[in-house]
Amino acid sequence: MTGPISLPRARGCLFDPPDAYHALTESAALHPLRFPLADDGWIVTQHAAAKVVLGDSRFSHRNELIASPLPPPFPLPPGTPISPPPAEPGAFNKMDPPEHTRYRRLVGGWFSARAAERLIPAIEDTARELLAAMVEHGAPADLVRLYARPLPARVIFDFLEVPEDIREPLHNSLDVLMRLRMSLEELIEAVTVATELLDELARGKMTEHGGGMLGELAQRGLDVLEVRNVAWALLGGGTDTTANMIGLGVISLLEHPDQLESLRNKPELLDNAIEELLRYLTISQFGASRTATEDLEVFGHPVRAGQTVVVALPAVNRDPRVFPEPDRLDLARSTRGHLAFGYGVHKCIGQYLARATLRVAYPALFERFPELRLAVPLHQLAMRDDMDHYGVHEIPVRW
Ligand code: HEM
Repeated sequence: MTGPISLPRARGCLFDPPDAYHALTESAALHPLRFPLADDGWIVTQHAAAKVVLGDSRFSHRNELIASPLPPPFPLPPGTPISPPPAEPGAFNKMDPPEHTRYRRLVGGWFSARAAERLIPAIEDTARELLAAMVEHGAPADLVRLYARPLPARVIFDFLEVPEDIREPLHNSLDVLMRLRMSLEELIEAVTVATELLDELARGKMTEHGGGMLGELAQRGLDVLEVRNVAWALLGGGTDTTANMIGLGVISLLEHPDQLESLRNKPELLDNAIEELLRYLTISQFGASRTATEDLEVFGHPVRAGQTVVVALPAVNRDPRVFPEPDRLDLARSTRGHLAFGYGVHKCIGQYLARATLRVAYPALFERFPELRLAVPLHQLAMRDDMDHYGVHEIPVRW
């Protein structure tokens, strides 16, 4: 076994995960990984091992502050405490069962496949409006600013009945928190703004009648802090993710014209195409991390209590044992078992909402602009390797 490596980051092709993952996936289930602020841990790139780690309750989710495989966003002041504070009430995305289970049960019903299906006509209206505004703007236009970013945000803001006047400042502060590098001042500013606006939102839901899902949670006994943190988890998880799947997905289709053509000729391919784009692009570029709560063994490798394992989802979704010719975008392939939404108890609560949004977003765009094309060469696009979720910062297009 070789010594610990740093998290691979360099991508050879903008649609592929870092090249270094290939060799890792071929050679072993787990590899020692260096963490900037914590003891050495492990990285998993094989599909089977990923499911073992994400499915084992002896691994905790309570780790992300310290045991990040990435350097901190700014140099930490000396004396910064290096153990994570307990998750705040309602922040279920940072909890372990049984606390996590209680909130997931409360919120889960709102995010079923059927609930998402019912939202499709409203998502279609929003998409149409944004595309009309794009026509009004004229070419060249930034697809991210005018379509990919606002569409999923409006879907989730509408769904949570977030008042219009706080949407833009809230969205902007959530975006800042997705950056991997920022100053301490920027972090404090973004956290302060998001906290104030989400507190205002939650307080409104305590008194309002018919305040949608959040109002109902309040009626079922959740307090302001809990409602605020549930909203934070959903808005934090539900804006940037789908936005980047729209942006990067559109570019992948434009760069694979045969695949785009096959989708145009066979609209019934759409659902599978979306799963394949989710697999192929896996925008959760740094994967999911879990920390062992006791000494255990994974595929013969000893993981000590307190060690963190990074499950590199982009690599896992390119494991050739599960996806033959994994680096090929093939909208018709079997995508069964892809882990783009994670696995286990924390598997994405918004997966059906994301799928519903994508099911509208791609066809609406390509139908409105059959001649859609990039307005700059591919290599000039600024990729989001500096953000939590992979994608593209700006996509100038013509039509
Ligand atoms: C294509 C879009 C999306 C992708 C690729 C994605 C990906 C993921 C992944 C990989 C996880 C698991 C993280 C882990 O195990 O550590 C996750 C969890 C989560 N996602 Fe998504 N997501 C997407 C859309 C959404 C949407 C639309 C929402 C809002 C409703 C959302 C809200 C959440 C929340 C709250 C969690 C935490 C769940 C829990 O801890 O129980 N996501 N997502």
